[in-house]
Amino acid sequence: MRIASIVGARPQFVKAAPVSREVRRHNEEILIHTGQHYDEAMSDVFFEVLDIPKPDYNLDVGSGSHARQTGEMLIRLEEVLEKEDPDVVLVYGDTNSTLAGALAAAKLHLPVGHVEAGLRSYNRRMPEELNRIVADHLSSLLFCPTQTAVENLEKEGIVKGVHLVGDVMYDVALASAQAARKRDVVKRLGLSRKGYVLATVHRPANVDERPPLESVLKAFSECGETVVFPAHPRTRKKMQEFGLDGRVTGNVRVIDPVDYLDFLALLIDAKKVATDSGGVQKEAYFFGIPCVTLRDETEWIETVEDGWNAVVGTDTEDVVDAIKNFNPRGTKSKSFGDGHAAEKIAGLLESLP
Ligand code: UD1
Ligand code: UDP
Repeated sequence: MRIASIVGARPQFVKAAPVSREVRRHNEEILIHTGQHYDEAMSDVFFEVLDIPKPDYNLDVGSGSHARQTGEMLIRLEEVLEKEDPDVVLVYGDTNSTLAGALAAAKLHLPVGHVEAGLRSYNRRMPEELNRIVADHLSSLLFCPTQTAVENLEKEGIVKGVHLVGDVMYDVALASAQAARKRDVVKRLGLSRKGYVLATVHRPANVDERPPLESVLKAFSECGETVVFPAHPRTRKKMQEFGLDGRVTGNVRVIDPVDYLDFLALLIDAKKVATDSGGVQKEAYFFGIPCVTLRDETEWIETVEDGWNAVVGTDTEDVVDAIKNFNPRGTKSKSFGDGHAAEKIAGLLESLP
């Protein structure tokens, strides 16, 4: 079977790593990088540390408005998919690369498999929510990470082709933990074990306007902890644009994005995590690190129900309070599968008629 996988942004490289490995055992994979993320620290390093094969195509789409970026992807993906004529097209998560991949494939009557199907925040102002909804409705195979995702799809009338496989991010986190523990990034940054908070912020709702970004940075400055903050390029640019660079105090260490293994190493040794990332909320849960989520809602409700994730928004006082006082109570459930989601996905693809 010939399987085309479409990736483009940082979390998709992480998700594709285990799937690509499993798929390639018995099939041919054509790996297509849209070029949505292109900085070395946002793209190349993930291929290196996760041992992902070099993409067969890099469409070099780069940054732009939603329409421009997605439109360019559609045009370039159509050409590649027509030429390669794969048996199935895999898309991952909820970025513009996911939307373009699903749409380009479906219009060519190619079956689409969506890895991480069924997630919903029920907030349609999030670009990701629109991308997911469209991708799910265009897919004939929907690989759900959680039971909640299966139920979300059912509410929209999608029941055919839905498979609860577990979360591929759990697979890759488990498989990478040992290598991450060997990394010396914590020492290199002069940090001590459980002596800092690891923070990431990049959601447009939090960084594209000055007030929420300023509010979150103020919370980091005032929380009384050392905060390590690998800043997404979007966030770094906005901090400069709003003149907020100089506003963070000495306890906040703004660093460049780090590779996946360094990130896991920083996470495993962190006292707490403060983030608006989808993937990072789950990784905190996998490794039992209390997570403060800088959003008003989350797709990963199991992490909240189990007591490991406090969804607090971006108000300075609320964030400071959660960083200081949030203490998880619950035991962790097996909501994200058994670490073999990618194997299940490959098996299901191979059983296609
Ligand atoms: C995208 C996804 C988001 C995901 C995130 C992961 C969409 C709509 N959003 O958001 O769901 O959580 O990736 O990180 O697809 N930039 C660089 N270098 C890069 C990439 C981006 O400088 O390598 C800067 C550019 O100024 C760009 C901005 O970051 O305009 C935003 O990049 P973009 O890919 O449009 O969205 P993300 O915020 O990264
Ligand atoms: N990540 C990383 N380095 C960083 C920040 C994040 O390797 O400096 C990884 C993180 O471990 C997770 C993924 O990137 O696997 C999450 O991506 P991101 O937060 O950009 O996107 P989201 O999950 O919100 O879509």
